[in-house]
Amino acid sequence: MKLFVDTADLNEIREAASLGVISGVTTNPTLLAKTGNGNVKATIQEICQIFPNAPVSMEVISDDAEGMIREGVDFTTWASNIYVKIPFGVEGMKAVSALTAKGIKTNVTLVFSPAQALLAASAGASFISTFVGRLDDIGHDGLTATAEIVELLGNYDFNSEVLAASIRHPLHVVQAAQAGCDIATIPMKVIKQLYKHPLTESGIASFKKDWEAFNTVIV
Ligand code: G3P
Repeated sequence: MKLFVDTADLNEIREAASLGVISGVTTNPTLLAKTGNGNVKATIQEICQIFPNAPVSMEVISDDAEGMIREGVDFTTWASNIYVKIPFGVEGMKAVSALTAKGIKTNVTLVFSPAQALLAASAGASFISTFVGRLDDIGHDGLTATAEIVELLGNYDFNSEVLAASIRHPLHVVQAAQAGCDIATIPMKVIKQLYKHPLTESGIASFKKDWEAFNTVIV
């Protein structure tokens, strides 16, 4: 499973790039608004320079297929590694089909059910973003729905990759991998939590303590 970072914050993007384990970036209108930078094109172009050979998702805001297609084609002039993020829906799938025909990569977002995932894959989506956390937030089991999507699409040779999104904690990441997701896009806070284990930290401390005691003897 590939690990992406889910943010538009340039400092977080630079930190994620330095870790050596992150291979892509997803943004959305909320994450871009949080940066407070009104020059969205410049922000996305900067992200694409920090991750030059990795998928970087930029979401359309139009409601109709024509507008989504127009936006998506424009995004591809910003950088060569942009994936056009399209909210699921009738108009969205029309746009995904048209953009796919133009050879433009897409990320279908706000997917919550196997039925939606089947339609997104049929439209030619490159990524299908299933929102685990938001399903959990309303008392549904986000990972079960995601596992069902992975299983359903795995029966056929669709070109779509399942991207676990709306990740709330490290267990979501582990469970997404266990479910066979192709990608998980993770907030920086959760990425940092993935590294932590008390036994690793205490083990390092005791190795250092024992070595310093031993080293003292040698010297
Ligand atoms: O960016 C897509 C998705 O990961 C955002 O999910 O629920 O954290 O807003 P959420």
